[in-house]
Amino acid sequence: MLDIQTATAIPHVTRREDYTPPDWQVPEIALDFSLDAAATLVRATLHVVRDSAHDRPLVLDGGGQTPLSVKVDGVAVNDWRIENDALVVPLSGTDHVVETEVEIAPDRNTQLMGLYASGGNLCTQCEAEGFRRITFFPDRPDVLSIYKVRMTADKKRYPVLLANGDPVAQGDAPDGRHWAEWHDPYPKPCYLFALVAGDLVANTTTFTTRSGREVSLGIWVRAADLPKTAHALAALQTSMTWDEQVYGREYDLDVFNIVAVDDFNFGAMENKGLNIFNSRYILADADTATDYDFDAIAAVVAHEYFHNWSGNRVTCRDWFQLSLKEGFTVFRDQGFSADQGSAAVKRIEDVRGLRAAQFPEDAGPLAHPIRPDEYQEISNFYTATIYNKGAEVIRMIATILGPERFRAGSDLYFDRFDGTAATCEDFVASMEEASGEDLSQFRLWYSQAGTPRLTATLRQDAGGSRATLTLSQRVPVTPGQPVKQPMVLPIKLKLFGADTATTLAPERLVLLDGPSEQLVFDGVTERPILSINRGFSAPVVVETDRSADDLAFLSAHDDDPFARYEAMQQLMLDTLVQAAATGQADHKAVIAAVAHTLDDAALDPAFVAEAVLLPSDNFIGDQMALVDPEAIFRAREALRRDLGKALDVRWRAAYASTQADAFVYSPAAKGLRRLKTVALGYIAASGACDAAALAFKQFEAADNMTDRQGALGVLVAGDSAERVAALDIFYNRYSDNALVLDKWFQTQALSPRDDTLEQVQTLSRHRDFTLANPNRARALISAFAVNQRAFNAASGEGYRFVADQLIALDKLNPQTAAKLLPPLGRWRRFAEERATRMRAELERIVATPGLSKDMFEQASKSLG
Ligand code: TRP
Ligand code: ZN
Repeated sequence: MLDIQTATAIPHVTRREDYTPPDWQVPEIALDFSLDAAATLVRATLHVVRDSAHDRPLVLDGGGQTPLSVKVDGVAVNDWRIENDALVVPLSGTDHVVETEVEIAPDRNTQLMGLYASGGNLCTQCEAEGFRRITFFPDRPDVLSIYKVRMTADKKRYPVLLANGDPVAQGDAPDGRHWAEWHDPYPKPCYLFALVAGDLVANTTTFTTRSGREVSLGIWVRAADLPKTAHALAALQTSMTWDEQVYGREYDLDVFNIVAVDDFNFGAMENKGLNIFNSRYILADADTATDYDFDAIAAVVAHEYFHNWSGNRVTCRDWFQLSLKEGFTVFRDQGFSADQGSAAVKRIEDVRGLRAAQFPEDAGPLAHPIRPDEYQEISNFYTATIYNKGAEVIRMIATILGPERFRAGSDLYFDRFDGTAATCEDFVASMEEASGEDLSQFRLWYSQAGTPRLTATLRQDAGGSRATLTLSQRVPVTPGQPVKQPMVLPIKLKLFGADTATTLAPERLVLLDGPSEQLVFDGVTERPILSINRGFSAPVVVETDRSADDLAFLSAHDDDPFARYEAMQQLMLDTLVQAAATGQADHKAVIAAVAHTLDDAALDPAFVAEAVLLPSDNFIGDQMALVDPEAIFRAREALRRDLGKALDVRWRAAYASTQADAFVYSPAAKGLRRLKTVALGYIAASGACDAAALAFKQFEAADNMTDRQGALGVLVAGDSAERVAALDIFYNRYSDNALVLDKWFQTQALSPRDDTLEQVQTLSRHRDFTLANPNRARALISAFAVNQRAFNAASGEGYRFVADQLIALDKLNPQTAAKLLPPLGRWRRFAEERATRMRAELERIVATPGLSKDMFEQASKSLG
C-alpha cells in the first residue's frame, strides 16, 4: 500500500482512453443560495437517476466547501463520507432526490474559481471544474441538467441578482434582503452555470431574431462604466445577426446578459444566457481603449455568443474534446471579425498570433495534440494549441470542403448533436457525411502534435517550358510521440512569371498527403516564382529556396495579400537571421522592398503597416538553432535604424498622410492610426533628433488611446526627457482606471531599453502592482516574459524574477500562475548558461512546498 506521503506526490493523470459514461445522471437541480461575501449557504436539490446497471454509490465532486447536511428523499442521512474532496452517498434503487447544504466563503476565494468576490460584487466561474467548489455535483460536462436557481441577498449591497436562463420571480425578504428566481429550460453541464449578485447597471436593448423572437440584451457594469458599453452591445447585435446569416444559428432564450468583472482568470465565459467577461473585453471608449482593444472586444463578445451553439447547445463529452467547442468557436469568431473589416489584415494578425503563441508551444516540452490524450490539471489545457491550432484545423476542413459543403456539415453537426455532449469525432464524421469527403487521414491533425514542416523546391526544366515542384513534409517528434505519420496538408499555390509578373499557373489547392510529391507545370515560358501556402492555408512551417529577389518580387506583385505579407516577412527574416548568426548584414533588399510597399498607393494603409513591421525578436529566435537574444536584438535594431534612416522621407510622408480629424472607429481610420505609429516608430529608430518631440506631440494631441499609447510606446523605448514626462502624465491621468494602468505597466515591461529588467523589478513593488488581479499580473509578468532580451538577461535575473512572482502568485491563484510558466520551459532553445539558469528556476518551483498541481504539471513537464 502507498503511504499518504507518496500518494500525494504522485500526480493523478486523467486519460482520454479511460472515459466511461457517468454512473448517475442528474436531470434536474434546484439551487438555493443565501448569498453573503463571508459565508454563503448553498442548498442543492438533485434529482439523481442511476445510469445503467451498477451498484456504485453516488459520488459528487467537491472542493473547499464545508458540508452541513445531506438528505435523501427528504430524510437526513449520516452514512455519507468525504473522499478526495468528493461526497460519497450510498444509495439503493435507481431514482432519488438528494439534498445537500454547504457553506462557502466567496471573499476568501483568491483562485477566482467557483463563487468569488470581485469589486464588491459576487460572481461565478465554473469552467472547467469550478462548480464543485460551489456545491457537491458530478462535475463533468456529460451530465446535463435543467437548473432552477433561487438567490437571496442583501438588497442594498446586491440590488441585482442574475442567473442563467429567464427571470421568473422576485421579491423582498426579511432583514433588508431580497430574492430572485431564474429558470433555464435548456439542459446544460454544470460548467455553464453562473450567477451574479451586485450593484450593477445595464445598457439594454432588444434584438429580434429572424424567426421573430424578441430578446432582451443587457450589458451589466458598475454605474461609472456605463458609457463604455456601447461598443460591446453593438458587437453583440452584429454577432447575433452574423450567426443567423452565416451559420443559420438563432438565439434561443428571451434574455441574454453579459456582466463585466475586473478579476477574471481568462477573457470571458459563455455561461448560458449569462456571459461573464473580464472587463477588459467589454469596456471601451476612445479615451481609454486602443483599436486593438475595440477589435478584441468585438471578437470576444462574438466568441462567447457563438458558444451558445458551438459549446452550449452542443457541448463536450469530456475535457479532452475541448477543441470541439474552442477550436470551432475561434474559427467562427475569426470569420466574424474578417467580415467586419479587412479580411487580409485579420488573417495576418491571426497568423502572427499563432506563430507567437502556438508554434513555440508545439515545439516545446508542453506540446500536445488539439485533442490531448492525458492531463493532470485541465486548466493547463486552455492553450493556444486547443484554441488557435484547433481553429486552423477547422479552417483546413472548410478549405478542403469549400463553403457549401462546410455549411452542410455544420448544419448536420448542430442538428444531430443538439442537446448532447459530443466528441471531436462526431464533428469530423458530420463533415464527412455531409460532404462525401474522406477525412480518415485528416484526423491525424487531432492526434499528432507538432508543427509540420513543408519543403518546396521549384525547378524549371532546362530549355523546356516545364517546371517541377517537389513538396515534402516532415512532422517533428514531440513529447510522447516519437514516430509521426504524414498529414493531409491543404496547400494553396500559384506560379508567377518573373519577367512579366503575370500568372504562369493559376491558384490551385494541393492536398499533400504523402511524405513527398512532385507536381509538373506546363507552359512555363519564363522563370517561375512560387507563391505557396497562400492565405496560410495550412498551419505549417514552409521552407523554400526562394531567393531575396523572388521574395522581393512577391512582396510587390503577389495578388494574395497574405502571401504578399509573408514574402516580405521571409525576406526580413532571412536578413535578420543571417545578421544575428554572422554579424554580417546587407539591408539593401529589405529597404528596397519596404520602399516599394510604401510607394504603392493602391495598398490599404492597414496592410502597409503590417507589411513593413519587422518580425519580433521571439520569432527571429524561433528560426535559429539556438537563440542568441543579444545578437537578435542588435540585428533587429540595426535594420530598424537603417530602414528609418534610408526611408526617412517616406516615413514622414506616411506619417503626414495619416493625420485625421476627430476619432472614429472604422476599418479605414484604424488602418491610418496603425500606420501612423509604425511610421513614428521608424522615425524614432532612425535617431532623428526631432523624434521625441514628434512622439510627445502625438502623445499630447491624441484624442484616442491608440495614438496616445502608440506614442508612449515609442517614447518609452528611448531615453528622452519626454519619456519620463509622458509616463507621469499617463499615470496621473489614468490612475483610477485599472485597465489603462495595465497598459502603463505593460508598455514599460515591453521596452527595448537596457534597464527594462530593473524597471520591471521596481514596478513589481509599485503601490498599484498586485498579483491578486490577473490582468495586472499578466500586464507586468507576461509582457516581461515576451521581451526576449530582457527576460533572457545573461545574469539569469529575469528568470529568477519571474519564478519569484509565480511562486507568490501560485499561493493565490494557481491557474493564472501556471499559465505564465511556459516561458521558463524554453531552456532547450538556449545555450548552456541560460539553459542551466532556467532549469534551476524550474527546479526551485517544483521543490516549493505546497505547490499547486497546476504549477507542478507545467513545471515538471517543462523540465522533462
Ligand atoms: N470557455 C471560455 C472561453 O473560451 C474559457 C474560460 C473562461 C476559462 N474562464 C475560464 C477557461 C477559466 C479556464 C478557466 O470563452
Ligand atoms: Zn471559448
